Amino acid sequence: MRARQSSIAAFVVLAIGAAAWSRPALPDTTGDASIALTARTTVPPRVMATLRRACFDCHSNETRWPWYSRLPLAAHLLAHDVREGRAQLDWSHWEEYNRFDRAELLDKVCDRASHGEMPPWPYRLVHRDASLTAIDLRELCEWAQGESARLAQGGS
Ligand code: HEC
Repeated sequence: MRARQSSIAAFVVLAIGAAAWSRPALPDTTGDASIALTARTTVPPRVMATLRRACFDCHSNETRWPWYSRLPLAAHLLAHDVREGRAQLDWSHWEEYNRFDRAELLDKVCDRASHGEMPPWPYRLVHRDASLTAIDLRELCEWAQGESARLAQGGS
């Protein structure tokens, strides 16, 4: 009995170890420009720079994988964040959302960024340049709210 318990325990430890040390395939980084944010939407260059700097790693196909994404465990955590981030909001697939979804996402963009929830704090800790200044935030919100209002009024 005892032998069986310890072999089960050894199996569990091995399985967890294997899962942690295996490297998942990182989400894809190829994109189609014809469905991306910039395909039809006007984005001021400074706002685009903010999005690219602070949001694109998790919310677009243009993820810049850091060197530690090659490490076991870190790879799982990063891949998970990127998959979840893209699933909620993907600037590289912007044209695939209908205008109501786009308007709603834009409202959330200003909201989540203003509350300091996006980019997430662990990301800001590692990527110092991803913190938004008051000016970045104001410009982001002005654009997002303006674009959201335009879509809500029937723009496409
Ligand atoms: C480290 C990865 C990461 C970065 C960088 C990041 N996000 Fe996110 N974001 C996520 C994840 C994961 C979720 C889903 C979980 C959640 O809602 O908190 C999310 C959710 C969101 C949502 C909610 C969408 C919905 O439908 O509810 C918005 C809006 C958003 N992010 C905007 C931004 C903006 C704007 C930036 C840049 C200023 C940004 N995010 C940067 C990972 C990230």
